[in-house]
Amino acid sequence: MKLYVPLDSAAKALGADEVAAALVAEAEKQGIAVEITRTGSRGMIWLEPLVEIEENGTRMGFGTATPEDAAAILAGTSDKALGPVEELDWMKRQDRLTFARVGVIDPLDLADYEAHGGLAGLRRALGMTGQEIVDEVKASGLRGRGGAGFPTGIKWQTVHDADAPQKYIVCNADEGDSGTFADRMIMEGDPFTLIEGMAIAGLAVGATRGYVYLRSEYPDAIAIMSRAVEIARSRGLLGADVMGSGRAFDMEIRKGAGAYVCGEETSLLNSLEGKRGVVRAKPPLPALEGFLGRPTVVNNVISLATVPVIFEKGAQAYADLGMGRSRGTVTLQIAGNVARGGLFETAFGLSLGEVVNDLGGGTMTGRPVKAAQVGGPLGAYLPVSKFDAPLGYEELDAEGGLLGHAGIVIFDDATDMLEMARFAMEFCAVESCGKCTPCRIGAVRGVETIDRIAQGDGDALPLLTDLCEVMKEGSLCALGGFTPLPVMSAVTHFPDDFAHGKEAAE
Ligand SMILES: Cc1cc2nc3c(=O)[nH]c(=O)nc-3n(C[C@H](O)[C@H](O)[C@H](O)COP(=O)(O)O)c2cc1C
Ligand code: SF4
Repeated sequence: MKLYVPLDSAAKALGADEVAAALVAEAEKQGIAVEITRTGSRGMIWLEPLVEIEENGTRMGFGTATPEDAAAILAGTSDKALGPVEELDWMKRQDRLTFARVGVIDPLDLADYEAHGGLAGLRRALGMTGQEIVDEVKASGLRGRGGAGFPTGIKWQTVHDADAPQKYIVCNADEGDSGTFADRMIMEGDPFTLIEGMAIAGLAVGATRGYVYLRSEYPDAIAIMSRAVEIARSRGLLGADVMGSGRAFDMEIRKGAGAYVCGEETSLLNSLEGKRGVVRAKPPLPALEGFLGRPTVVNNVISLATVPVIFEKGAQAYADLGMGRSRGTVTLQIAGNVARGGLFETAFGLSLGEVVNDLGGGTMTGRPVKAAQVGGPLGAYLPVSKFDAPLGYEELDAEGGLLGHAGIVIFDDATDMLEMARFAMEFCAVESCGKCTPCRIGAVRGVETIDRIAQGDGDALPLLTDLCEVMKEGSLCALGGFTPLPVMSAVTHFPDDFAHGKEAAE
């Protein structure tokens, strides 16, 4: 009997290891021969631990499994049976390209990876010149999934054109945004796809070394990525002679130390060089003077992990999906107070309302939805009246929002949006790298000002507006520059929550 149990850390936090152990023990007791493969998560976090049994080539699911369910699952009598996993609405409605193998294969089984389309992209790229690879990425329309949405092909072109004795590929796996977990899930569930994407990036721009800057809060991802790099090297995918091509690319995993600002690319490069994680002034761009002063591609995990499927299926197939200037798929991460949280990969274009209400099923508490924060701690709190907005870069921007890394955190009507504005400002105060005054001092003053509003000081609100303007215009990076977005969106869309302190004072 073939069984699949996730090893993803969200599934483990919900008891997947215990369920796997109980299935082994129960099978032994009953004298059934079982083979358990540990996989990544399918992304339906509300169903984890999700056990799957293969029957005639079809995987049958059992959701929210506990160790006590083991006997019934093996006997086929469990009331937690969900039917074929691929037929579940959540799975059927996706366009899983970047995440196609996650939850399906053993993450560290290279043969399994190859059997499911892995390495086809790298093989194709090895037959192309650097410029042809860059052109293919441009044609795909891929834009950076780390937050800014910068066209990946254009960034690669700059590094390709730079003349230097050494160039680097740096993968940003700091994933600090609230409500985001796509980077972690792919590194735990399909690490070879990131390695393959980085190798293709290296071939494109002429870089022979790569680094994954991976946050220390992800011990499982660090362990799996490290092992995958060792395996890839031992099988000749990395090293002096990538797949026998005579071209070199090697990489290593570096652990971050837990600062949000180290996700900002120049701060990350400082940290990678062993320096304090402070933001560097731009120019020079990292593409020209990045790691150790050399031309460097800095890309998010999902950007790089999407490259292999673009080369496997062709740029046009990828570009055919999506809307406007947002091409291909977006990996939505649905979190917060929501009935069905998880990862959903789809062509750009779904509306926020469809995601929150239809996919997410509304709030977990069952109360009405009040707001959704899209794009991490620097994204706007959007009210329900904005839920028709399609989730595309420009489309969300037009509504005063930010797609960012596509994390969506949902709040119910019991949420005090003044408290959320305070939280956003305090986050900036705590995480500020301290290099520039509007952010370092402004965020501290901002928290004090919001406290004055809470206490009913009517003069403090225009002061907060002014302060946000200064932070937006005067900050060196997006931490100070974008914190006004959540703060002022709360003020604008939920004015009643900023009047309650006043009422209390009267
Ligand atoms: C404060 C701050 C934090 C950031 N954190 C991350 C992060 O955790 N992961 C990430 O990929 N990009 C993060 N970014 C964006 C990076 O600076 C950079 O744009 C990105 O790594 C480029 O890769 P991409 O083009 O593939 O998106 C952050 C930016 C700022 C200003
Ligand atoms: S905005 Fe904040 S985090 Fe960014 S450089 Fe200035 S002080 Fe540092």
